[in-house]
Amino acid sequence: MRFDDPDALADWVASLLLQERLRRPERPLGLATGRTMEPVYAALVRQVKELPPQEQRELRRRWCSFNLDAYVGLDRADPGSFAAEMANRLTAPLGLDPERVHLPDGRAADPHAAAECYGAQLAAAGGIGLQLLGLGLNGHVGFNEPPCAADAPCRCLELSPVTRHQNAGAFGGDPDAVPKRAITLGLREILAAERLLLVVTGAAKAEVLARTLQEPPTASLPASWIQHHPRALVVADQEAMRALSAATPLMGAEAGNP
Ligand code: GLP
Repeated sequence: MRFDDPDALADWVASLLLQERLRRPERPLGLATGRTMEPVYAALVRQVKELPPQEQRELRRRWCSFNLDAYVGLDRADPGSFAAEMANRLTAPLGLDPERVHLPDGRAADPHAAAECYGAQLAAAGGIGLQLLGLGLNGHVGFNEPPCAADAPCRCLELSPVTRHQNAGAFGGDPDAVPKRAITLGLREILAAERLLLVVTGAAKAEVLARTLQEPPTASLPASWIQHHPRALVVADQEAMRALSAATPLMGAEAGNP
């Protein structure tokens, strides 16, 4: 799907997430953080608040989401943590039960065991229905840094300098202040989702989006593995699409109906 207007893009993505929650409440929703998702969550909050009160209550009662990733070593209350980001953008504005908005435990004494536990918790919940994904400048999804095999499981890993630089904004602009490790769902759990929704905005992502869709899937560009997914949809704005060759269809676009 291609959008000229960023607000229209955010609205469209939010309504897909909302429909998924309303129609398939038994399947966990896979959520992502990052600047790309800020307008999406703002639109989602607006849309939920427009629902009749009974539907809003039902949505809260049956909410179940699993975030892709979390930094190791940050408390949930740390403003740079993804837990704080989710609390501020979604959990608090919607009045969700924080126990139903799952994130990896970045403060666990043993982050490797915490990652294994998070993967098991997701599996016990039935796996992801619809997985929302952003795109890292180095082609990561979640925090699956290159190189990354298509069957890499949920795990604790080292973040690359590129990623720590990309995410420095949430840490006063200082890449050295960005945690060195993170827990992330792996490509294994991501590719096992029923549907994938990759959202890419802005000129800075144009080159990596073109490579993600045009190059053969490879471990050196983890997002490229989504080409193997039968129900992946890519949603992008004009800026992000400007390096795509005209011959490259956006995945899922032909289907019209994701
Ligand atoms: C971050 C997160 C991803 C996110 C991506 C894009 O590092 N781990 O889940 O989707 O990179 O971030 P942004 O939207 O800020 O560009």
